[in-house]
Amino acid sequence: MAFPPDFLDELRARTDLPGLVGRRAKLIKRGREFTALCPFHNEKTPSFTVSPDKGFYHCFGCGAHGDAIAFVMQSEGLSFPESVERLAGLAGLEVPKPTPEQAARAERGAALHEAMDAVCQWFTEQLHGDAGAEAGDYLVGRGLEPATVAAFRLGYAPNRRGALKLAMNAKGLDDEILVEAGLIKPAEGGEAPRDYFFDRIVFPITDRRGRVVAFGGRTLGQSKAKYINSPETPLFHKGRMLYNLAGARRAAHDTGEVLVVEGYMDVIALAQAGFPATVAPLGTAITEDQIAELWRLASEPLLCLDGDAAGRRAGYRAAERALAHLRPGKSLRFAILPEGEDPDSLVRNRSPQALRQVLETALPLSDLIWLMHTDGRSFETPERQAGLRQDLRASVQAIRDPDVRAGYEAEMERRFDAAFGQGRRGRQAAGGQSRPGRPPSWQSRGRGPGGPKDWAGEQKGGRGVRIPNRQRYFRQEQALVAYLINHPELLSEFTEEVADLRLENRDLGRLRGALVDLIASDPALDSEGLRCHLEQQGFVEVLNGLLSRDVYDLFHSARPGAPLNKAREVWLEALSRHKARQGPRDPDAEGGQSAAPASAGARR
Ligand code: UTP
Ligand code: MN
Repeated sequence: MAFPPDFLDELRARTDLPGLVGRRAKLIKRGREFTALCPFHNEKTPSFTVSPDKGFYHCFGCGAHGDAIAFVMQSEGLSFPESVERLAGLAGLEVPKPTPEQAARAERGAALHEAMDAVCQWFTEQLHGDAGAEAGDYLVGRGLEPATVAAFRLGYAPNRRGALKLAMNAKGLDDEILVEAGLIKPAEGGEAPRDYFFDRIVFPITDRRGRVVAFGGRTLGQSKAKYINSPETPLFHKGRMLYNLAGARRAAHDTGEVLVVEGYMDVIALAQAGFPATVAPLGTAITEDQIAELWRLASEPLLCLDGDAAGRRAGYRAAERALAHLRPGKSLRFAILPEGEDPDSLVRNRSPQALRQVLETALPLSDLIWLMHTDGRSFETPERQAGLRQDLRASVQAIRDPDVRAGYEAEMERRFDAAFGQGRRGRQAAGGQSRPGRPPSWQSRGRGPGGPKDWAGEQKGGRGVRIPNRQRYFRQEQALVAYLINHPELLSEFTEEVADLRLENRDLGRLRGALVDLIASDPALDSEGLRCHLEQQGFVEVLNGLLSRDVYDLFHSARPGAPLNKAREVWLEALSRHKARQGPRDPDAEGGQSAAPASAGARR
């Protein structure tokens, strides 16, 4: 029976901790604390301390540690409830009796837990029986090893109507409890109750202690809904649970790291690939409760985001939700996956190291807040800049912790100055090198030189006026050309667009011109032919730069051998983004005040 937290707090407050410990060890006062020879191990010099202010004891020798209740448990070998009773007696407090409703609820909860476990067991048996052959093949096809399937207790809900109900009724679980557990839908209009999960792979969802509280189910093909979850039940509150929390808790304890991904399969694939401290929300955007839960596992949980617009939105939403709750040392980080990959496909098609690399270039929360207000927008006018300032302030004001808020105020101010401040205008006038209003964009984040770490470093460096996104635009321009070389079909198909393409980097611009000439003179040139000619024309270094990991990691479909359809789709999208950034062709553009082309930072 759980004790009300208020009661436990009062019990701790009313307990004289030094008095309690003093019965077992001779305490010596040291300032506001006490020291003693540790009552839990043999020692000659005292390494045991008691802090009445904090309500804790701690032994630097044997690691014994806890509050008054723990002390009674440890020193007298009592259970938690017994220790609470004992302390309540000493403090003259009455232990609250459970109300009949509470007692009934506790009993019902235990019955539900038992039912869930029995059902989980039955699902796994189905997977390994004849009915589960196809489901088993499916899991093998997705690269799961038997040990992984077992560790996650994956199962199969068969495609026989009423099978679960029958089997469970036979075990003495009545319909009422199966309905309450969200496993069958109640009988309606004379129809028999129906199984909730039908012809699906099932993923047991456990609570913090590893008890099954719900299931997720993936269709094997036919159903419209790819995934469904159990409905909300007395045990299952979607917004508060995280898939694999219990498993990740153990692992996060060792590594201090926790990853947050989107799907069940991502969690499982990552665990198998050596990232056991991975969790996922249950098909919804991450909630504040879930963020709080994550902070119990690690100081800076790492969210893995898709490289597309949906991933970006998910990142902004999570960042916004976290703001109010930030505390010193507690934050989130955001790792952006290459386009078209989810964590599962990344570790399987590429390697665990590829994921590790992506994680290492994760963006801090402050980057996300900045990007949220600036990405894809331009700030050429004072009014827009003032608007941005207001937006940034509003976000910063949402931070409740005063120290963190002050830090963010300074950080956003600094970024704002770096983008629009005095020094920057000076440079612009001097060299025409950069223009205001083009903060870093989502897609253009990079790794290695020019990655987020670098440009953060650049800004922190103090001179503060370099365009942080210079490298990013450069990578995008490289990618635009890399696609053409690795997929010459695009070059043939879009020769006019390529001929019209403005690239800020001079070398890339020249290379683009050479490509157009080559394909005009010999439309049959393939990728290798193009490269060969270009190398002869002296583009070796430029080619090495753009046919590289740096580019492919950001634009996966630019790789040689990537499917043409995907390449075309992403290339066209990148092209239109590139053009949008440059704005319309404008004869005054080089003159100064015009809005176009603002990506001049990529010029060398
Ligand atoms: P995704 O559609 O991104 O799929 O769903 P996935 O995880 O890559 O799935 P696989 O690899 O095709 O098996 C991500 C998560 O969104 C929720 C589920 O929690 C899923 O794990 N989801 C998705 C739903 O709740 N319902 C759906 O129809 C689809
Ligand atoms: Mn997937």
